[in-house]
Amino acid sequence: MARTVRPTAFGTPEVLETVPTPVPRPAAGEVVVRVRAAGVNPIDWKLYSGAFHAVDDRHKDSAGVAGALPRLGLECAGVVTKVGPDVGPDTDADVGADVGAGVDDEAGAGANGVRVGDEVIVYPVTGAYADYVTAPVTSLIPKPAGLGWYEAGALMLAGTTAAHALDVTGVGPGDTVLVHGGSGGVGLMAVQLAVALGATVIATAAERNHGLLRGLGALPVSYGAGLLDRVRAAAPDGITAAIDCVGTDEALDTSVASVADRQRIASITGTDRRVTAGIKIIGNGPGQDAGADIRAAARAGLAAGAGKGELRVLIASVFPLSEAARAHRAGAAGHAPGKLVLVP
Ligand SMILES: NC(=O)c1ccc[n+]([C@@H]2O[C@H](COP(=O)([O-])OP(=O)(O)OC[C@H]3O[C@@H](n4cnc5c(N)ncnc54)[C@H](OP(=O)(O)O)[C@@H]3O)[C@@H](O)[C@H]2O)c1
Repeated sequence: MARTVRPTAFGTPEVLETVPTPVPRPAAGEVVVRVRAAGVNPIDWKLYSGAFHAVDDRHKDSAGVAGALPRLGLECAGVVTKVGPDVGPDTDADVGADVGAGVDDEAGAGANGVRVGDEVIVYPVTGAYADYVTAPVTSLIPKPAGLGWYEAGALMLAGTTAAHALDVTGVGPGDTVLVHGGSGGVGLMAVQLAVALGATVIATAAERNHGLLRGLGALPVSYGAGLLDRVRAAAPDGITAAIDCVGTDEALDTSVASVADRQRIASITGTDRRVTAGIKIIGNGPGQDAGADIRAAARAGLAAGAGKGELRVLIASVFPLSEAARAHRAGAAGHAPGKLVLVP
């Protein structure tokens, strides 16, 4: 048996429970991965909070009933333990003492080169809050040898979101980009990727995080009353693009007042005011730009950059899988910069 963390109802983290579940078997086009680290993201607790319950078709079950409880865990890293019938021999492999029973000598390579025993990053995926997860082979990215499990498990959701936001706003050399929430999971990625693209980066954060942002090549400013004045002082020649990873009215209003071209403002979170502002809204919500192709294409570069140490994946805290509720409380309360990670 394996373990899975799941919500028993909509609500706060108290509804999470860790239950025994069978080790899954891969269907056609799938593999099973032994999870070594699963990234924790704000969407994880939002999904069972009830916030999307009535408004989002994604949260209807297969019978079309609104509010089906979600499977948690949208990214992870781990070791391939089984490959599906059309990927290669369906093989139980002894890839580590924690894999459990079932050994077959004939660890196979699939048509796409995926082999039992491969160390992989898995994104996108659903259900990674578990000892084992099934994933389509298209969601596997080889884990660079130089990248730790925690970092590999927490890289992709934030990294691809940041890459998507920078892509749709066309950020490049010569730009001055305002990143709201520069010390958050997505913000830290947006800051680093924008600096690597040759842009000047102004990033908002609590003062305690300004040193970190300076170290990554950004000019930090504090959010709160007077933000627009501080942004103007930090960027006297103006802001050419903005990435909002916070979603407050203050962030939206500052972006709109700072950037002449609304199509060069991207928001990953916030209210419906964004729609009337005419800015780019990216994400998986109704009417939003999911950018699946852009995000899929970004994965290899993110993995390569992180593997070489050029792109830092900061880890704030690591929790045992069974303490997912504690991780969610920490995430919702605000925490040190970097990602929260669950380890089965
Ligand atoms: N659309 C998408 O595809 C997508 C993808 C990923 C995430 N998201 C959403 O984007 C948001 C950020 O995600 P994340 O993973 O980066 O979260 P996170 O790691 O929890 O970071 C949140 C950041 O917000 C900053 N913050 C808190 N209060 C603030 C305020 N009043 N004004 C300005 N900044 C403030 C914090 O900075 P300090 O600690 O410095 O105060 C913190 O660094 C979440 O709502 C998430 O659900 C959307």
